[in-house]
Amino acid sequence: MEQLDQLVQQAAAEFAAAVDGAQLEQAKARYLGKSGALTERLKALGKLEPEARREAGAAINAAKTAIEAALEGRRNALREAALLAQLAAEALDVTLPGRGGVQGGLHPVSRTLERVERLFGSIGFVVADGPEIETDWHNFTALNTPENHPARSMHDTFYLEGHDDVLLRTHTSPVQIRAMQAHVARHRDADAMPDLRIIAPGRVFRVDSDATHSPMFHQVEGLWVGETVSFADLKGVIADFLRRFFETDDLQVRFRPSFFPFTEPSAEIDVAFMSGALEGRWLEIAGCGVVHPNVLRFGGIDPERYTGFAFGMGPDRLTMLRYGVNDLRLFFEGDLRFLGQFR
Ligand code: FA5
Ligand code: MG
Repeated sequence: MEQLDQLVQQAAAEFAAAVDGAQLEQAKARYLGKSGALTERLKALGKLEPEARREAGAAINAAKTAIEAALEGRRNALREAALLAQLAAEALDVTLPGRGGVQGGLHPVSRTLERVERLFGSIGFVVADGPEIETDWHNFTALNTPENHPARSMHDTFYLEGHDDVLLRTHTSPVQIRAMQAHVARHRDADAMPDLRIIAPGRVFRVDSDATHSPMFHQVEGLWVGETVSFADLKGVIADFLRRFFETDDLQVRFRPSFFPFTEPSAEIDVAFMSGALEGRWLEIAGCGVVHPNVLRFGGIDPERYTGFAFGMGPDRLTMLRYGVNDLRLFFEGDLRFLGQFR
């Protein structure tokens, strides 16, 4: 009897010491297996007298029940511990911030272009466009710059191989010609042509590279043609635009006399801030002038009746000034550490 109690205690202790299912099964075999300690005792019963056999049998069965109960208890405990461990390992902290989901944003120059379109749109300028691969005629000839004109050398032009009359446009001014021709065609049957007011944002190309020149850059052309349009209107429109664009009066603007074959008189527009990162540094942001009569003629418009002004702005430089960036090429290198700052 005492031996059986000891056996039960010993079995329970071994089960408790088993740290996983495999160890538990090994311990079980030592007691309840084919040649386990308890099984051996059951086998020995046969040798006893009937009376003693009944007594001993009952005691062994009671011990067996106790050992099985201890086994089952340990099994359940191990299963529960395994489940808890798995739950702990797979736990999600739903309060952590999400990963991934990088937030994109507009390129700073695109922001400028949108702003320019909105501001000019508010005073009646509609957006026009033209091809980036342009004919020599639209880019130069129709802009009063015939072949062999020295002004052609002001632009270092990318020509297309095998086509000397096709080029990457060096400015957005050819859109002036296309817009005039389309406007004239649209109002061919009218007695009086309504004013033509367009801006033409887009990419242009020159063999050029330094801190304020990039071989691909942007321009926004502006053109207003009507019966009474003058240089004074040009100054008013530009001054008003710059004040609204930069949202500051801390800004100096100057119209510096210049030359373009397609305007007469002509000027360059320079801007400087009176404070901030670029304080006191004049930066040319546009060329402009009164549209040359020859250009109106090439556009199909009578220069005796109509006049106009035009300008060609550099939105990349407007972006430099607005954000205080000192090298224009940064905008086009695609470095997200730089571009990400403008979101
Ligand atoms: C022109 O391209 C003329 N078509 C502008 C014009 C239009 C004059 C209509 C009169 C009437 P210009 O080469 O100066 O002019 O260029 C105009 C503006 O584009 C410059 O003021 C400058 O802001 C910008 N720009 C010129 N070259 C570059 C360049 N390589 N990189 C970045 N911006 C440039
Ligand atoms: Mg210039």
